[in-house]
Amino acid sequence: MDNMRAGLGLQHIGIIMDGNGRWAKKRGLPRKYGHREGAKTFRRIVEYCDKLGLRYLTVYAFSTENWKRPEDEVNSIMQLLEQYIDEAFERQDENDTVRTRFIGDVSALSETLKEKIARIEQMSQGRTGMTVNVAFNYGGRDELVRAARQLAIQAQQGKLDPQQINEQMLSDHLYTSGQPDPDLIIRPSGEERLSNFLIWQAAYSEFVFMDVLWPDFTPAHLDQALEIFSRRNRRYGQV
Ligand code: IPE
Ligand code: IPE
Ligand code: MG
Repeated sequence: MDNMRAGLGLQHIGIIMDGNGRWAKKRGLPRKYGHREGAKTFRRIVEYCDKLGLRYLTVYAFSTENWKRPEDEVNSIMQLLEQYIDEAFERQDENDTVRTRFIGDVSALSETLKEKIARIEQMSQGRTGMTVNVAFNYGGRDELVRAARQLAIQAQQGKLDPQQINEQMLSDHLYTSGQPDPDLIIRPSGEERLSNFLIWQAAYSEFVFMDVLWPDFTPAHLDQALEIFSRRNRRYGQV
């Protein structure tokens, strides 16, 4: 349905998948069960957004700060990621159009994960449907530091005049290079902050904060967020 893009002028949605821990706690379960349910929600929402005709979906799955959590919890998140990739391989068929990319510092992940990430990116590379950016070991500040470093190296090598550095060049050195900025960023769980998610790209994004925990998030919640978005008036600094 190209409707969505035509009607709402919306190409890219970012989602901060938050509230897994609280979902589990409410049920007296260990946090990892919340992450497991959250992974199921992720699959359903990817399917739904693809059906709607969205071009880009970026989901925040693990931040550069999330390493500070108990080792046990971090391990279970790594395991879920591995499972997700394995399943994507098992279930792949030629009608799949979704392209999967990872944004973030994957170099810090295990060899097995790095290899699986590279394989799934490669497998889905030629697909022409929606692109899903999985933000994993992602931090907006880290992303900007990397971009600055790359530009500094080019300047040092005499390939770039520091006076010529502009916004476009910086954008081109981010993980999301070549993609449109998110039109809409949704954060469930009741928290109202970015937590280091797409801080550069979100300059003119619309924010919708929702009082639902991520494992309970359904396509109906996404519709609700789209409805709120449709009533917003984006001005980009103009009148
Ligand atoms: C989001 O859910 C998943 C990750 C950050 C990996 P949380 O685990 O942050 O859930 P809450 O915020 O503690 O409920
Ligand atoms: C942001 O959630 C990161 C992800 C959802 C992956 P956090 O739960 O880590 O953020 P804070 O700690 O509430 O800001
Ligand atoms: Mg949280």
